[in-house]
Amino acid sequence: MRVIEHPILDELKDQKKVTLYYNGEPVEAVEGEPVAAALMNAGIRVFRTTAKRHEPRGIFCAIGRCTDCMMIVDGIPNTRTCVTPVRDGMRVEKQEGLAPLKPQA
Ligand code: FES
Repeated sequence: MRVIEHPILDELKDQKKVTLYYNGEPVEAVEGEPVAAALMNAGIRVFRTTAKRHEPRGIFCAIGRCTDCMMIVDGIPNTRTCVTPVRDGMRVEKQEGLAPLKPQA
């Protein structure tokens, strides 16, 4: 279930395997693929919950237009993971409800 061609991130050319950490657990990924794609490939479908009803959200548009895939990436909340390329060692966390617009100091 990998995204090989992405409308925004372009073609996935390099297949270098890397590791990202989802809630502290290692997840195998391909460098440069969208974070959301790596998580979907690992069977992770819920990326955040809504603020009021705490309903699960995952990928919806997959092109960076909605906010369903927002997660905390390397400490930065509200990151659209469908258009965020994977880097080795990045930390990805499920986002519960609304997050502050700027990371806390
Ligand atoms: S799924 Fe819509 S912005 Fe990522």
